[in-house]
Amino acid sequence: MRLLIIGRLNGELVTASRIAMSRGAAVTQADGIEQGLNALRAKGADLVMVEVSLSIRTLVTALADERIRTPVVACGTGTDAKAAVAAIQAGAKEYIPLPPDPELIAAVLEAVTADARSFVWRDASMERVVKLAEQVARSDASVLITGESGTGKEVLARYVHTRSNRAQKPFVSVNCAAIPDALLESELFGHEKGAFTGAVARRIGRFEEANGGTLLLDEISEMDVRLQAKLLRALQERVIDRVGGTQPVKVDIRVLATSNRNLAEEARKGTFREDLLYRLNVVNLRLPPLRDRPSDILELAGHFARKYAEANGIAPRPLSAEARRLVAQNPWPGNVRELENTLHRAVLLASGPEIDADAIRSPEGEALASGSPAARAVQAAEAVTRSFVGRSLADVERDLILDTLDHCLGNRTHAAKILGISIRTLRNKLNEYTGAGIPVAEPGHTRGLAAYG
Ligand SMILES: Nc1ncnc2c1ncn2[C@@H]1O[C@H](COP(=O)(O)OP(=O)(O)OP(=O)(O)O)[C@@H](O)[C@H]1O
Ligand SMILES: [Mg+2]
Repeated sequence: MRLLIIGRLNGELVTASRIAMSRGAAVTQADGIEQGLNALRAKGADLVMVEVSLSIRTLVTALADERIRTPVVACGTGTDAKAAVAAIQAGAKEYIPLPPDPELIAAVLEAVTADARSFVWRDASMERVVKLAEQVARSDASVLITGESGTGKEVLARYVHTRSNRAQKPFVSVNCAAIPDALLESELFGHEKGAFTGAVARRIGRFEEANGGTLLLDEISEMDVRLQAKLLRALQERVIDRVGGTQPVKVDIRVLATSNRNLAEEARKGTFREDLLYRLNVVNLRLPPLRDRPSDILELAGHFARKYAEANGIAPRPLSAEARRLVAQNPWPGNVRELENTLHRAVLLASGPEIDADAIRSPEGEALASGSPAARAVQAAEAVTRSFVGRSLADVERDLILDTLDHCLGNRTHAAKILGISIRTLRNKLNEYTGAGIPVAEPGHTRGLAAYG
């Protein structure tokens, strides 16, 4: 945990920094906003505490412009409520009154590092993934973490870092999909002052920021092929070139990468370098979708119910039996993220002594049973797949044709188009069915064959 303190406040911030250090934080100090920004550009930090009388807006705006995502917390002498409000409006995440309360400082530090600790699993399929993660955590091997969106790839990456020999060093994450191609190179490798318009000062890149620790290249499949070549060199030779720089810089990092696309497939298509894939994919941790880890669903639901009760100052409540049934049966196409958001809402919506099924709702307030369109599609697809097994091809074909006709309200032209067959073939099939004496009012069909004749 790297803490940057900007300002002095008659020594009050020195006390705060002592408290933080006693909790294991590495503290740097800067006198003003400009020095603070330079320290962030030069070394990075996990949290900034800034004296409230300094221009927090200037700081927050500069950080946003330069895409430095370190959270900012304002500090000031306790009684100045106006300054506290102004600080929050300017973009500070929290306001800490001084003189510092050791418990409060500890709580803020903990909130910043909390992500790394809440990694919950129970299902046997996850047990295997976690075991493999623990086995490789202590090596410096690159790890590729794959899985559908929301399955917890970033959570697992942090877990690997905390279990590694680098745990006390920085964990730095770069979202390759969120940063425009033209800027990603300087984000990763840094730049020298004047390297391009807007390069107002030397800034170190994420590789240097992560030095000694772990670098997570999130959504690496989105990286431009040209930059992939530079990344490969950095990984092979353990040196980087800042944009506009003349001297290569040595770096000591462990790289983790995530992707929700199949990189082998991307490599075949030529959008991802095969040599880079081999470099990254020394170990592949594959996170199963949440629907394939049934024992995790209720475990995670309970975890999120407790987490959001605590965050909102509400007494924790258990899920009712009906709510548990609903949650356990839902297909969760958005995986853990969707489950988390749903439980967050449920904690806020529930009114009784338990979290009831009624509180388990979509973001639009619909009951979960009817679900999101995506959830319904997955449910329908699963129902269809289940109903196929054990039936003959001819049988399934007939049902598909009749269902499609049904869907098209008997319009043969439209149905044939959807089915990808000619109208003549469709007509022949229908004749076959009536000729075979199939009852005109099939169960499940609202209009019988007669209506289509
Ligand atoms: N095993 C877990 N225990 C606790 N929380 C989890 C777990 N897995 C995921 N989460 C939570 O679910 C959310 C999504 O997780 P995360 O961001 O790691 O997913 P992801 O696979 O990286 O998704 P994306 O592909 O969309 O980036 C986060 O809020 C995370 O804290
Ligand atoms: Mg992610």
